[in-house]
Amino acid sequence: MTDLTVLVVGSGGREHALALAIAADPGVAAVHVAPGNPGTWHAWPSHAVDPTDGDAVAALATEIGADLVVVGPEAPLVAGVADAVRAAGIACFGPTAQAAQLEGSKQFAKDVMAAAGVPTAASRFCRTPGEVAAALDALGAPYVVKQDGLAAGKGVVVTNDRDEALAHAAACGDVVVEEYLDGPEVSLFVITDGTVALPLQPAQDFKRVGDDDAGPNTGGMGAYTPLPWAPEGLVAAVMDRVVTPTLEEMTRRGTPFAGLLYVGLALTSRGMRVVEYNARFGDPETQAILPLLETPLGQVLYAAATGTLADVGPLSWRDESAVIVVAAAENYPGTPRAGGSITGPRLYETADNVHIVHAGTALDGDTLVAAGGRVLGVVATGPTLTDARDDAYAALAELDFPTGFWRTDIAAKAAAGLIPPVTSL
Ligand SMILES: Nc1ncnc2c1ncn2[C@@H]1O[C@H](COP(=O)(O)OP(=O)(O)O)[C@@H](O)[C@H]1O
Ligand SMILES: [Mg+2]
Repeated sequence: MTDLTVLVVGSGGREHALALAIAADPGVAAVHVAPGNPGTWHAWPSHAVDPTDGDAVAALATEIGADLVVVGPEAPLVAGVADAVRAAGIACFGPTAQAAQLEGSKQFAKDVMAAAGVPTAASRFCRTPGEVAAALDALGAPYVVKQDGLAAGKGVVVTNDRDEALAHAAACGDVVVEEYLDGPEVSLFVITDGTVALPLQPAQDFKRVGDDDAGPNTGGMGAYTPLPWAPEGLVAAVMDRVVTPTLEEMTRRGTPFAGLLYVGLALTSRGMRVVEYNARFGDPETQAILPLLETPLGQVLYAAATGTLADVGPLSWRDESAVIVVAAAENYPGTPRAGGSITGPRLYETADNVHIVHAGTALDGDTLVAAGGRVLGVVATGPTLTDARDDAYAALAELDFPTGFWRTDIAAKAAAGLIPPVTSL
Protein backbone atom coordinates (compact mmCIF):
# COMPACT_ATOMS: atom_id res chain seq x y z
CA MET A 1 0.00 0.00 0.00
CA THR A 2 1.13 3.52 -0.72
CA ASP A 3 -0.41 6.88 0.09
CA LEU A 4 -1.77 5.60 3.38
CA THR A 5 -3.65 7.92 5.67
CA VAL A 6 -3.08 6.73 9.23
CA LEU A 7 -4.90 7.77 12.41
CA VAL A 8 -3.01 7.18 15.66
CA VAL A 9 -5.27 7.02 18.74
CA GLY A 10 -3.94 8.05 22.15
CA SER A 11 -2.06 10.90 23.80
CA GLY A 12 1.09 9.53 25.41
CA GLY A 13 4.76 9.17 24.61
CA ARG A 14 4.04 5.85 22.91
CA GLU A 15 1.61 7.51 20.50
CA HIS A 16 4.06 10.33 19.76
CA ALA A 17 6.73 7.71 18.98
CA LEU A 18 4.31 5.69 16.83
CA ALA A 19 3.31 8.79 14.86
CA LEU A 20 6.97 9.70 14.28
CA ALA A 21 7.83 6.23 12.98
CA ILE A 22 4.69 5.93 10.85
CA ALA A 23 5.24 9.41 9.37
CA ALA A 24 8.79 8.37 8.39
CA ASP A 25 7.35 5.59 6.18
CA PRO A 26 7.50 6.77 2.55
CA GLY A 27 4.29 4.84 1.87
CA VAL A 28 2.39 7.03 4.36
CA ALA A 29 0.86 10.19 2.92
CA ALA A 30 -0.75 11.62 6.06
CA VAL A 31 -0.74 11.06 9.80
CA HIS A 32 -3.50 12.24 12.14
CA VAL A 33 -3.54 11.90 15.92
CA ALA A 34 -6.49 11.79 18.32
CA PRO A 35 -6.24 13.45 20.74
CA GLY A 36 -2.41 13.61 20.85
CA ASN A 37 -0.29 16.01 22.91
CA PRO A 38 1.70 19.21 22.22
CA GLY A 39 4.44 17.18 20.55
CA THR A 40 2.04 15.62 18.03
CA TRP A 41 -0.06 18.80 17.65
CA HIS A 42 3.07 20.53 16.43
CA ALA A 43 3.59 18.02 13.64
CA TRP A 44 0.26 16.55 12.51
CA PRO A 45 -3.46 17.36 12.37
CA SER A 46 -5.03 16.47 15.69
CA HIS A 47 -8.59 15.78 16.74
CA ALA A 48 -10.14 16.19 20.19
CA VAL A 49 -11.79 12.78 20.37
CA ASP A 50 -12.14 10.55 23.42
CA PRO A 51 -9.89 7.58 22.61
CA THR A 52 -12.16 5.14 24.47
CA ASP A 53 -15.27 6.14 22.46
CA GLY A 54 -15.35 3.61 19.63
CA ASP A 55 -18.14 5.31 17.68
CA ALA A 56 -16.38 8.67 17.85
CA VAL A 57 -13.04 7.17 16.75
CA ALA A 58 -14.72 5.28 13.88
CA ALA A 59 -16.58 8.44 12.79
CA LEU A 60 -13.35 10.45 12.81
CA ALA A 61 -11.52 7.75 10.85
CA THR A 62 -14.28 7.79 8.24
CA GLU A 63 -14.33 11.59 8.06
CA ILE A 64 -10.57 11.92 7.42
CA GLY A 65 -10.52 8.97 5.01
CA ALA A 66 -8.17 6.89 7.15
CA ASP A 67 -6.86 3.68 5.57
CA LEU A 68 -5.51 2.48 8.90
CA VAL A 69 -6.22 3.25 12.55
CA VAL A 70 -3.53 2.41 15.13
CA VAL A 71 -4.87 2.21 18.68
CA GLY A 72 -2.10 2.93 21.20
CA PRO A 73 -3.38 2.44 24.78
CA GLU A 74 -4.99 -0.56 26.45
CA ALA A 75 -8.20 1.04 27.74
CA PRO A 76 -9.65 1.69 24.24
CA LEU A 77 -8.72 -1.82 23.11
CA VAL A 78 -10.41 -3.45 26.09
CA ALA A 79 -13.39 -1.15 25.46
CA GLY A 80 -13.70 -2.46 21.88
CA VAL A 81 -12.51 0.58 19.93
CA ALA A 82 -10.69 -1.60 17.36
CA ASP A 83 -13.93 -3.57 16.82
CA ALA A 84 -15.87 -0.34 16.21
CA VAL A 85 -13.30 0.86 13.65
CA ARG A 86 -13.35 -2.47 11.79
CA ALA A 87 -17.16 -2.46 11.85
CA ALA A 88 -16.93 0.85 9.96
CA GLY A 89 -14.92 -0.96 7.27
CA ILE A 90 -11.54 0.53 8.15
CA ALA A 91 -8.39 -1.50 8.84
CA CYS A 92 -7.33 -1.27 12.47
CA PHE A 93 -4.08 -2.26 14.17
CA GLY A 94 -5.19 -3.50 17.57
CA PRO A 95 -6.89 -6.63 18.91
CA THR A 96 -10.61 -7.19 19.41
CA ALA A 97 -12.00 -6.52 22.87
CA GLN A 98 -12.14 -10.27 23.43
CA ALA A 99 -8.51 -10.82 22.45
CA ALA A 100 -7.43 -7.76 24.47
CA GLN A 101 -8.50 -9.71 27.55
CA LEU A 102 -4.94 -11.08 27.43
CA GLU A 103 -4.14 -7.72 29.05
CA GLY A 104 -7.54 -6.85 30.48
CA SER A 105 -7.65 -9.81 32.87
CA LYS A 106 -4.58 -11.30 34.53
CA GLN A 107 -6.55 -14.49 35.23
CA PHE A 108 -7.67 -14.81 31.59
CA ALA A 109 -4.01 -14.53 30.55
CA LYS A 110 -3.07 -17.21 33.08
CA ASP A 111 -5.76 -19.53 31.70
CA VAL A 112 -4.48 -19.05 28.17
CA MET A 113 -0.88 -19.64 29.28
CA ALA A 114 -1.86 -22.82 31.10
CA ALA A 115 -3.80 -24.15 28.11
CA ALA A 116 -0.94 -23.25 25.76
CA GLY A 117 1.79 -24.72 27.99
CA VAL A 118 3.57 -21.37 28.30
CA PRO A 119 6.11 -21.09 31.16
CA THR A 120 4.87 -18.64 33.80
CA ALA A 121 4.76 -18.20 37.59
CA ALA A 122 2.56 -20.60 39.54
CA SER A 123 -0.56 -18.72 40.60
CA ARG A 124 -4.00 -18.81 42.18
CA PHE A 125 -7.09 -16.78 41.34
CA CYS A 126 -8.69 -15.45 44.54
CA ARG A 127 -12.08 -13.87 45.14
CA THR A 128 -12.16 -13.79 48.97
CA PRO A 129 -9.75 -12.77 51.78
CA GLY A 130 -9.66 -16.41 52.89
CA GLU A 131 -8.57 -17.56 49.44
CA VAL A 132 -5.91 -14.83 49.36
CA ALA A 133 -4.51 -15.82 52.76
CA ALA A 134 -4.34 -19.48 51.73
CA ALA A 135 -2.66 -18.57 48.42
CA LEU A 136 -0.06 -16.36 50.13
CA ASP A 137 0.84 -19.20 52.47
CA ALA A 138 0.92 -21.78 49.70
CA LEU A 139 3.08 -19.71 47.33
CA GLY A 140 5.24 -18.09 50.02
CA ALA A 141 7.21 -14.83 50.32
CA PRO A 142 8.08 -12.56 48.61
CA TYR A 143 4.35 -12.16 47.99
CA VAL A 144 3.06 -11.08 44.58
CA VAL A 145 -0.54 -9.84 44.43
CA LYS A 146 -2.06 -8.62 41.15
CA GLN A 147 -5.39 -6.95 40.57
CA ASP A 148 -7.23 -9.01 37.95
CA GLY A 149 -8.41 -6.06 35.81
CA LEU A 150 -6.71 -3.04 34.21
CA ALA A 151 -5.00 -0.87 36.82
CA ALA A 152 -2.82 1.60 34.86
CA GLY A 153 0.38 0.19 36.37
CA LYS A 154 -0.89 0.38 39.95
CA GLY A 155 -2.35 -3.10 40.35
CA VAL A 156 0.70 -5.11 41.39
CA VAL A 157 2.35 -5.27 44.80
CA VAL A 158 5.50 -7.30 45.47
CA THR A 159 6.29 -7.41 49.18
CA ASN A 160 7.66 -9.47 52.05
CA ASP A 161 4.98 -8.01 54.32
CA ARG A 162 2.03 -10.41 54.51
CA ASP A 163 -0.28 -7.72 55.92
CA GLU A 164 0.57 -5.38 53.04
CA ALA A 165 -0.17 -8.18 50.57
CA LEU A 166 -3.53 -8.86 52.25
CA ALA A 167 -4.40 -5.15 52.35
CA HIS A 168 -3.60 -4.72 48.64
CA ALA A 169 -5.77 -7.72 47.78
CA ALA A 170 -8.62 -6.33 49.87
CA ALA A 171 -8.41 -3.03 47.97
CA CYS A 172 -8.39 -4.77 44.56
CA GLY A 173 -11.32 -7.16 44.55
CA ASP A 174 -10.48 -10.24 42.45
CA VAL A 175 -6.74 -10.88 42.41
CA VAL A 176 -4.13 -13.28 41.11
CA VAL A 177 -1.56 -14.33 43.73
CA GLU A 178 1.69 -15.48 42.17
CA GLU A 179 4.92 -17.21 42.92
CA TYR A 180 7.83 -14.72 43.05
CA LEU A 181 10.14 -14.64 40.02
CA ASP A 182 13.76 -13.49 40.24
CA GLY A 183 16.11 -12.43 37.44
CA PRO A 184 16.24 -9.61 34.90
CA GLU A 185 13.07 -8.62 33.03
CA VAL A 186 12.82 -8.34 29.25
CA SER A 187 10.10 -6.83 27.09
CA LEU A 188 9.57 -8.52 23.73
CA PHE A 189 7.04 -6.98 21.34
CA VAL A 190 5.55 -9.04 18.53
CA ILE A 191 3.52 -7.67 15.62
CA THR A 192 0.99 -10.28 14.49
CA ASP A 193 -1.97 -10.68 12.18
CA GLY A 194 -3.14 -13.61 14.31
CA THR A 195 -1.14 -16.22 12.42
CA VAL A 196 2.18 -14.75 11.30
CA ALA A 197 4.22 -13.03 14.01
CA LEU A 198 7.23 -10.72 13.64
CA PRO A 199 9.30 -9.98 16.74
CA LEU A 200 10.75 -6.54 17.41
CA GLN A 201 14.08 -6.11 19.18
CA PRO A 202 13.98 -6.96 22.88
CA ALA A 203 14.18 -4.04 25.30
CA GLN A 204 14.44 -3.50 29.02
CA ASP A 205 12.52 -0.89 30.97
CA PHE A 206 12.99 0.60 34.43
CA LYS A 207 9.85 0.46 36.53
CA ARG A 208 10.92 1.83 39.89
CA VAL A 209 10.97 5.58 40.36
CA GLY A 210 14.47 5.93 41.79
CA ASP A 211 18.08 5.10 40.91
CA ASP A 212 19.13 1.53 41.72
CA ASP A 213 15.47 0.49 41.53
CA ALA A 214 14.52 2.29 44.74
CA GLY A 215 10.98 3.40 45.53
CA PRO A 216 7.59 2.49 44.13
CA ASN A 217 6.65 1.16 40.69
CA THR A 218 5.83 3.64 37.94
CA GLY A 219 4.62 3.41 34.36
CA GLY A 220 8.32 3.24 33.38
CA MET A 221 11.18 5.71 33.88
CA GLY A 222 13.35 4.72 30.93
CA ALA A 223 14.32 1.94 28.56
CA TYR A 224 17.02 0.79 26.18
CA THR A 225 17.48 -1.60 23.29
CA PRO A 226 19.03 -3.91 22.19
CA LEU A 227 20.18 -5.91 25.22
CA PRO A 228 23.92 -6.62 24.97
CA TRP A 229 23.66 -9.16 27.79
CA ALA A 230 20.71 -11.15 26.42
CA PRO A 231 21.43 -14.81 25.77
CA GLU A 232 21.73 -15.95 22.19
CA GLY A 233 18.51 -17.52 21.01
CA LEU A 234 16.31 -15.51 23.38
CA VAL A 235 13.94 -14.21 20.72
CA ALA A 236 13.66 -17.58 18.97
CA ALA A 237 12.94 -19.29 22.29
CA VAL A 238 10.20 -16.79 23.18
CA MET A 239 8.62 -17.15 19.73
CA ASP A 240 8.71 -20.91 20.03
CA ARG A 241 7.63 -21.46 23.61
CA VAL A 242 5.45 -18.42 24.24
CA VAL A 243 4.21 -16.52 21.19
CA THR A 244 3.32 -19.35 18.80
CA PRO A 245 1.44 -21.48 21.35
CA THR A 246 -0.38 -18.40 22.69
CA LEU A 247 -1.53 -17.28 19.23
CA GLU A 248 -2.63 -20.84 18.45
CA GLU A 249 -4.59 -21.05 21.68
CA MET A 250 -6.32 -17.73 20.98
CA THR A 251 -7.27 -18.94 17.50
CA ARG A 252 -8.49 -22.26 18.90
CA ARG A 253 -10.80 -20.31 21.23
CA GLY A 254 -12.26 -18.45 18.26
CA THR A 255 -10.73 -15.14 19.39
CA PRO A 256 -7.53 -14.76 17.36
CA PHE A 257 -5.15 -12.09 18.60
CA ALA A 258 -4.03 -9.61 15.93
CA GLY A 259 -2.08 -6.51 16.87
CA LEU A 260 0.86 -6.05 19.18
CA LEU A 261 1.50 -8.82 21.68
CA TYR A 262 3.76 -7.55 24.44
CA VAL A 263 5.48 -10.38 26.29
CA GLY A 264 6.89 -9.36 29.67
CA LEU A 265 9.44 -11.96 30.75
CA ALA A 266 11.57 -12.72 33.77
CA LEU A 267 14.76 -14.61 32.93
CA THR A 268 14.96 -16.61 36.15
CA SER A 269 17.67 -19.00 37.28
CA ARG A 270 15.22 -21.81 36.43
CA GLY A 271 14.48 -20.55 32.93
CA MET A 272 12.30 -17.89 31.37
CA ARG A 273 8.81 -17.19 32.68
CA VAL A 274 6.09 -14.90 31.33
CA VAL A 275 5.32 -12.12 33.84
CA GLU A 276 2.41 -10.74 31.84
CA TYR A 277 0.96 -10.03 28.43
CA ASN A 278 -0.03 -6.62 27.19
CA ALA A 279 -2.17 -6.08 24.11
CA ARG A 280 -0.36 -2.97 22.81
CA PHE A 281 3.02 -1.33 22.40
CA GLY A 282 4.74 -0.73 25.76
CA ASP A 283 5.62 2.72 27.01
CA PRO A 284 8.49 3.75 27.17
CA GLU A 285 10.19 0.82 25.37
CA THR A 286 8.46 1.75 22.09
CA GLN A 287 10.17 5.15 22.09
CA ALA A 288 13.58 3.42 22.12
CA ILE A 289 12.76 0.53 19.78
CA LEU A 290 11.08 2.31 16.85
CA PRO A 291 13.94 4.69 15.97
CA LEU A 292 16.08 1.62 15.19
CA LEU A 293 13.50 -0.03 12.93
CA GLU A 294 14.43 0.19 9.24
CA THR A 295 11.36 -1.55 7.81
CA PRO A 296 8.65 1.06 7.08
CA LEU A 297 6.31 0.81 10.06
CA GLY A 298 3.08 1.96 8.36
CA GLN A 299 3.30 -0.91 5.88
CA VAL A 300 3.95 -3.45 8.60
CA LEU A 301 1.03 -2.32 10.75
CA TYR A 302 -1.25 -2.20 7.71
CA ALA A 303 -0.24 -5.75 6.78
CA ALA A 304 -0.89 -6.94 10.34
CA ALA A 305 -4.29 -5.24 10.32
CA THR A 306 -5.28 -6.82 7.01
CA GLY A 307 -4.03 -10.37 7.58
CA THR A 308 -1.16 -10.10 5.08
CA LEU A 309 1.88 -10.13 7.34
CA ALA A 310 3.20 -13.17 5.47
CA ASP A 311 4.07 -10.75 2.64
CA VAL A 312 6.37 -8.75 4.94
CA GLY A 313 9.75 -10.36 5.53
CA PRO A 314 11.56 -10.30 8.86
CA LEU A 315 11.95 -6.76 10.21
CA SER A 316 15.30 -5.10 9.66
CA TRP A 317 17.14 -2.98 12.18
CA ARG A 318 19.84 -0.35 12.32
CA ASP A 319 22.95 -1.70 13.99
CA GLU A 320 22.81 0.89 16.76
CA SER A 321 21.57 1.30 20.32
CA ALA A 322 18.80 3.51 21.67
CA VAL A 323 17.99 4.87 25.10
CA ILE A 324 15.02 6.80 26.45
CA VAL A 325 15.16 8.63 29.77
CA VAL A 326 11.79 9.79 31.10
CA ALA A 327 11.47 13.16 32.84
CA ALA A 328 8.66 13.02 35.39
CA ALA A 329 6.95 15.74 37.41
CA GLU A 330 7.87 16.23 41.06
CA ASN A 331 6.09 13.79 43.41
CA TYR A 332 5.36 11.21 40.65
CA PRO A 333 4.13 8.43 41.05
CA GLY A 334 2.09 10.09 43.77
CA THR A 335 0.07 13.13 42.71
CA PRO A 336 2.45 14.82 40.27
CA ARG A 337 3.00 18.56 40.43
CA ALA A 338 1.33 20.18 37.41
CA GLY A 339 2.14 23.45 35.68
CA GLY A 340 5.94 23.53 35.93
CA SER A 341 7.45 25.22 32.87
CA ILE A 342 9.70 23.42 30.41
CA THR A 343 12.07 25.33 28.15
CA GLY A 344 15.17 24.39 26.23
CA PRO A 345 16.39 23.38 22.79
CA ARG A 346 14.79 20.72 20.59
CA LEU A 347 11.41 20.60 22.33
CA TYR A 348 9.87 19.96 18.90
CA GLU A 349 12.78 18.97 16.66
CA THR A 350 13.02 15.37 15.65
CA ALA A 351 15.57 15.25 12.83
CA ASP A 352 18.61 14.63 15.04
CA ASN A 353 19.89 11.45 16.70
CA VAL A 354 18.38 12.99 19.86
CA HIS A 355 14.73 13.97 20.16
CA ILE A 356 12.08 14.63 22.76
CA VAL A 357 8.93 12.55 22.91
CA HIS A 358 6.03 14.35 24.60
CA ALA A 359 3.73 12.57 27.06
CA GLY A 360 2.22 14.59 29.95
CA THR A 361 2.90 18.03 28.49
CA ALA A 362 0.44 20.87 27.89
CA LEU A 363 0.55 24.39 26.50
CA ASP A 364 0.02 27.41 28.71
CA GLY A 365 -0.10 30.08 26.02
CA ASP A 366 3.15 29.41 24.19
CA THR A 367 4.89 27.88 27.18
CA LEU A 368 5.23 24.14 27.49
CA VAL A 369 4.24 22.97 30.98
CA ALA A 370 4.00 19.70 32.87
CA ALA A 371 0.51 18.19 32.92
CA GLY A 372 1.00 14.58 33.98
CA GLY A 373 3.26 12.16 35.80
CA ARG A 374 5.60 11.14 33.03
CA VAL A 375 6.02 14.43 31.23
CA LEU A 376 8.41 13.73 28.37
CA GLY A 377 11.18 11.40 27.32
CA VAL A 378 14.55 12.14 25.78
CA VAL A 379 15.41 9.53 23.14
CA ALA A 380 18.93 9.13 21.77
CA THR A 381 20.44 6.67 19.34
CA GLY A 382 24.13 5.98 18.86
CA PRO A 383 26.70 3.43 17.74
CA THR A 384 26.91 2.00 21.27
CA LEU A 385 24.71 2.02 24.34
CA THR A 386 27.23 4.31 26.04
CA ASP A 387 27.00 6.83 23.18
CA ALA A 388 23.20 6.77 23.26
CA ARG A 389 23.13 7.19 27.04
CA ASP A 390 25.62 10.03 27.01
CA ASP A 391 23.65 11.91 24.35
CA ALA A 392 20.33 11.41 26.15
CA TYR A 393 21.72 12.70 29.43
CA ALA A 394 23.50 15.61 27.73
CA ALA A 395 20.17 16.65 26.20
CA LEU A 396 18.43 16.39 29.58
CA ALA A 397 21.11 18.62 31.10
CA GLU A 398 20.18 21.29 28.51
CA LEU A 399 16.54 21.17 29.52
CA ASP A 400 15.21 23.84 31.88
CA PHE A 401 12.49 21.93 33.78
CA PRO A 402 12.83 22.89 37.46
CA THR A 403 9.87 20.78 38.66
CA GLY A 404 11.00 17.70 36.74
CA PHE A 405 13.25 14.83 37.75
CA TRP A 406 14.64 11.70 36.14
CA ARG A 407 16.67 8.62 36.96
CA THR A 408 20.40 8.97 36.34
CA ASP A 409 21.10 5.26 35.82
CA ILE A 410 19.00 4.26 32.79
CA ALA A 411 20.97 1.62 30.84
CA ALA A 412 24.04 2.29 33.03
CA LYS A 413 24.62 -1.30 34.16
CA ALA A 414 24.09 -2.72 30.69
CA ALA A 415 26.44 -0.14 29.13
CA ALA A 416 29.11 -0.99 31.72
CA GLY A 417 28.69 -4.74 31.20
CA LEU A 418 27.53 -5.23 34.78
CA ILE A 419 24.43 -7.37 34.15
CA PRO A 420 25.38 -10.98 34.87
CA PRO A 421 24.92 -13.29 31.91
CA VAL A 422 21.74 -15.34 31.86
CA THR A 423 22.65 -19.01 31.69
CA SER A 424 19.40 -20.88 31.18
CA LEU A 425 16.50 -20.09 28.93
N1 LIG B 1 5.70 -13.10 39.83
C1 LIG B 1 6.43 -11.99 39.98
N2 LIG B 1 7.61 -12.03 40.67
C2 LIG B 1 8.36 -10.92 40.84
N3 LIG B 1 8.02 -9.71 40.39
C3 LIG B 1 6.88 -9.59 39.70
C4 LIG B 1 6.03 -10.72 39.45
N4 LIG B 1 4.97 -10.30 38.74
C5 LIG B 1 5.13 -8.97 38.55
N5 LIG B 1 6.27 -8.54 39.13
C6 LIG B 1 6.81 -7.16 39.09
O1 LIG B 1 5.76 -6.22 39.05
C7 LIG B 1 5.76 -5.51 37.80
C8 LIG B 1 4.33 -5.28 37.34
O2 LIG B 1 3.69 -6.53 37.14
P1 LIG B 1 2.91 -6.86 35.82
O3 LIG B 1 2.40 -8.25 35.89
O4 LIG B 1 3.78 -6.52 34.67
O5 LIG B 1 1.63 -5.91 35.92
P2 LIG B 1 1.27 -4.48 35.35
O6 LIG B 1 2.27 -4.13 34.29
O7 LIG B 1 -0.10 -4.68 34.84
O8 LIG B 1 1.34 -3.56 36.54
C9 LIG B 1 6.59 -6.40 36.87
O9 LIG B 1 7.19 -5.68 35.84
C10 LIG B 1 7.60 -6.98 37.83
O10 LIG B 1 8.65 -6.04 38.08
MG1 LIG C 1 3.87 -4.82 33.31
